[in-house]
Amino acid sequence: MSNMQRIVLAGGSGQVGSILARHFHTQGCEVVVLSRQPYSAPWQVAAWDAVTLGPWREMLEGTDVLINLTGRSVNCRYTEKNKRLIKESRVQSTRILGEAIAQMAKPPRLWMNASTATIYRHSFDRAMDEDTGEIGGHEREKDAPSTWRFSIDVATRWEQAFFSAATPKTRKIALRSAMTMSPSRGGIFDELLRIVRFGLGGAAASGKQFISWIHDADFIRAIDFLIAHEEYMGPFNLAAPNPLPNRDFMKALRQAWGISIGLPATQWMLKAGAVFLGTETELILKSRRVVPGRLLDSGFSFQFPEWPAAAKDLVARWREAQP
Ligand SMILES: NC(=O)c1ccc[n+]([C@@H]2O[C@H](COP(=O)([O-])OP(=O)(O)OC[C@H]3O[C@@H](n4cnc5c(N)ncnc54)[C@H](OP(=O)(O)O)[C@@H]3O)[C@@H](O)[C@H]2O)c1
Repeated sequence: MSNMQRIVLAGGSGQVGSILARHFHTQGCEVVVLSRQPYSAPWQVAAWDAVTLGPWREMLEGTDVLINLTGRSVNCRYTEKNKRLIKESRVQSTRILGEAIAQMAKPPRLWMNASTATIYRHSFDRAMDEDTGEIGGHEREKDAPSTWRFSIDVATRWEQAFFSAATPKTRKIALRSAMTMSPSRGGIFDELLRIVRFGLGGAAASGKQFISWIHDADFIRAIDFLIAHEEYMGPFNLAAPNPLPNRDFMKALRQAWGISIGLPATQWMLKAGAVFLGTETELILKSRRVVPGRLLDSGFSFQFPEWPAAAKDLVARWREAQP
C-alpha cells in the first residue's frame, strides 16, 4: 500500500480501530481518529459527536479512505436503553457521514463501514457467503429469541443507512466482520482465554453452534487488500474460511493454552452468568457459520485459515504482552 494515504477512522478509538490505527500509522499513513472524547495518541484524534455535522467534516475532505467503526458495544445486557444506543449509534453515525460526504467537493475515494457477520441467520446446516447467505430476518428466524432478531434488525438498518447514502463518487464496502481475535486486553479473545485460564473453557450449551472468527493479522491484510483493489465494492464477509463448532473451538483454545480439561457450561449457567457479567448469551449461543466467499473468489489468501494455529499464535502474543 502507498504510504502517502490519508485514512480517517470514525469510532477508531476501540478494539478494532486501535489495531487499524497502529497498522496504518506504522505504514507511514496519515491517520485521523474521530472520537467523542479526544485523547492523546501517536496519530491525530479529532472531536465529533457522531450525530451532527461539525468542523470534523474538514478532516474528510480529500481523504483516501474513511473507515467507520462507530457503535455502542454489543457486549452488554439488551435493556431498552442499551438497545436504543446500539442501534442509534450505528445508524446515526453512518447517516451523518453520508450527509457530510454528499456535500464535499473532494469526497473520500473509499468508505468502508463496519457491519457484522451476525447479519446472517442462525445456521448449523450450511455456510453463509455474500451471494447465497440468507440475511437473518428470514422466515425461519421467527422462533429465534428476540435478541437475535434485534441484532439482525440493527445490522440490516445499519447497512441500509450505508448503501442508501447518496455518495456517487465514493466506493463503498460494508465489512461483515466475524469476531476479530487479537491479544489486546479487554477484547473478545482476552475474554475467551480468561474463561479457559479459570478452567471453565468447556463447550457452551450443546457446543454445536458455529463460531466465526478472524485473526487480527488477516483482518488487517483483508482491509489492505480491499483498499488496494479498486474494483471491489458492496458487502464483504471478513471471516476465516473455517468456522468451527463451539466445542472444537474451545478445545483448540484449551490446547493452545496448555490445559486439557474445561468444565462445560449449560444453557442455564450461561444465562445466569450473562446476567452476572452484564452480557447477552446471544454472543455465545447463536450459530454463526459465515465464510469469506468474495475474498476467496478474488484470490485473497489467509495467513491463519485454521483456528488451532491462530489460537496458538494469539496465546503466544498474549503471553508476550503480559506485564
Ligand atoms: N470487535 C469485533 O470482533 C467486531 C465484530 C463484528 C463487528 N464489529 C463492529 O465493528 C465496530 C468496531 O468494533 P470494536 O470492537 O472496535 O468496537 P468498540 O471497541 O466498542 O469501539 C467502538 C467505538 O464506537 C464509539 N462509541 C461507543 N459508543 C458510542 C455511542 N453511543 N455513540 C457514538 N459512538 C460510540 C467509541 O468511540 P469514542 O468513545 O472514542 O467516541 C468506541 O471506541 C463496531 O461497530 C462493531 O459492532 C466488531
